[in-house]
Amino acid sequence: MGVREIRTVPDPVLREPTKKVPLIDTKVLDLVDDMIDTMRARGGVGLAAPQVGVSLRVVVIELPDEEEVITLINPEIIKTKGERVLDEGCLSVPGYQGEVTRAVTVKVKARNIDGKEIRVSATDDLLAQALQHEIDHLEGRLYIDLIDSPEKLWRVEPGTEE
Ligand code: CO
Repeated sequence: MGVREIRTVPDPVLREPTKKVPLIDTKVLDLVDDMIDTMRARGGVGLAAPQVGVSLRVVVIELPDEEEVITLINPEIIKTKGERVLDEGCLSVPGYQGEVTRAVTVKVKARNIDGKEIRVSATDDLLAQALQHEIDHLEGRLYIDLIDSPEKLWRVEPGTEE
């Protein structure tokens, strides 16, 4: 277990499409543990494996006031609905925050840490936003790619990105 270094732009690993996890072995379990430690140490709501330099389809999400961490292995968005405009930031883009358009409702299919197939659905909340943000990381996409004009991206104190 341990806190790993967060990769930041322009690190190329953040732009690589990730590979599916073929088998949930001890290496993957260690990665998940370290991702949870790293997310907590940095005060993030979610973290995707490329952010710690591993090009695999693994995401962890921990919502404030929720006891359980959501671990998603090989997640895929299977449905989206609606649009809403949100402020967003990312530990891999330190010192910035921006305004992006996200779906209101999102449905995700994934495996949990035990390899069991799970579905996660969220509507109009932080989980819905985090699922889209983190799964974008697995495609090599960052929220800044969704920003269409310079006034929709602004500077914030490093460490306060949301
Ligand atoms: Co991010």
